[in-house]
Amino acid sequence: MQATTIPGDIASLSDYERYAREALNDQAWAYISGASADEYSARRNERAYGDICLLNRTLVDVSRGTTSLTLLNETLAHPILLAPVAYQKLAHPDGELASAAAAAAQDALFVLSTLASSTIEDVASISKGPKWFQLYFQADHEQTLALIRRAEAHGYSAIVVTVDAPVNGLRNREQRSGFRLPDNVRAVNCQPEQNGKVQAGESMIFQGLMSRAPTWKDVRWLKAQTRLPVIIKGVINPADVGIALGEGVDGLIISNHGGRTLDTLPSPVEVLPTIAALVDKKIPLIVDSGIRRGTDIFKAIALGADAVMIGRPVMYGLATAGAMGVAHTLRLLRDELELTMALCGCETLGDISPACLWQPARQ
Ligand SMILES: Cc1cc2nc3c(=O)[nH]c(=O)nc-3n(C[C@H](O)[C@H](O)[C@H](O)COP(=O)(O)O)c2cc1C
Repeated sequence: MQATTIPGDIASLSDYERYAREALNDQAWAYISGASADEYSARRNERAYGDICLLNRTLVDVSRGTTSLTLLNETLAHPILLAPVAYQKLAHPDGELASAAAAAAQDALFVLSTLASSTIEDVASISKGPKWFQLYFQADHEQTLALIRRAEAHGYSAIVVTVDAPVNGLRNREQRSGFRLPDNVRAVNCQPEQNGKVQAGESMIFQGLMSRAPTWKDVRWLKAQTRLPVIIKGVINPADVGIALGEGVDGLIISNHGGRTLDTLPSPVEVLPTIAALVDKKIPLIVDSGIRRGTDIFKAIALGADAVMIGRPVMYGLATAGAMGVAHTLRLLRDELELTMALCGCETLGDISPACLWQPARQ
């Protein structure tokens, strides 16, 4: 049962998670909240932020404070983006239409998944706010191009290519729950995926699924097809960063997919300082996975991120109270970020630096 107003005892994102658990059936809960295998990375994602300490500043005038930024030519009121999340109608009948409307109301950039349960066109007509389209390469370039053209025609201003999930992670919790998509929820923008055909003795993974998986060659192809900025999502290994820069990508999203692909990857915030040093501000860096507090956003920015994205919290807000729940989730995070900036003496995002973090080894 979804609430028609925001429950009065919701004070933070963890409260939305609690309400979402009540609102969702066991299968949808396993799909949305679950992660890969033993879920070490998913737990680590949140813990890693808690393990970083802030250093406050006192008696600083922050009365002209602002959270605004420019990201790939887009002026944004704050650095909190909605990550691409598939099948949002699992959480609420209005699905992506509700979360995109909430994003626009809260001046947040919305990223629509290839696996959305609402169409590219319907989301564009409900939201005049800033939007990007997340791309999973399709079975052939013709189908991929058709998606890109639709996104271009409807005001999506960048393409986010997700590269860390050429095969699904081992979602054991989801498997154990017997999760199946209900009949009324499907990926309405693309053709159903065909199972790879393998010969006797061949591997379903190597010769089946991975033989059709994209490579850097496909990213090069994509860049030649569109004038929109191309952002790569799902980079964790610093070894991939130099290649991405060499291919001329326009932005990077440091992400372990919320711990949903390969379990025991480090948390993005742990690899962020190394990656930020390699990128050296040449292109924007966005971080997701485990962001639940304004302090987390502040820490990511201190370590070199330009902006952050939230995934599950959007679904928890949706499941609890539809568009209102998502809008409130965004507002809570933004208020927490402003509070953190104020108490750390930062008037702008540019003031947030490693000096705002306590580094015990160096004290
Ligand atoms: C239910 C669910 C579905 C997701 N679907 C997609 C998707 O279609 N495309 C994609 O690039 N990432 C997808 N992600 C990953 C998110 O974009 C994001 O990286 C992740 O949720 C961030 O971690 P967080 O949930 O801890 O905030 C999905 C995540 C969840 C929880």
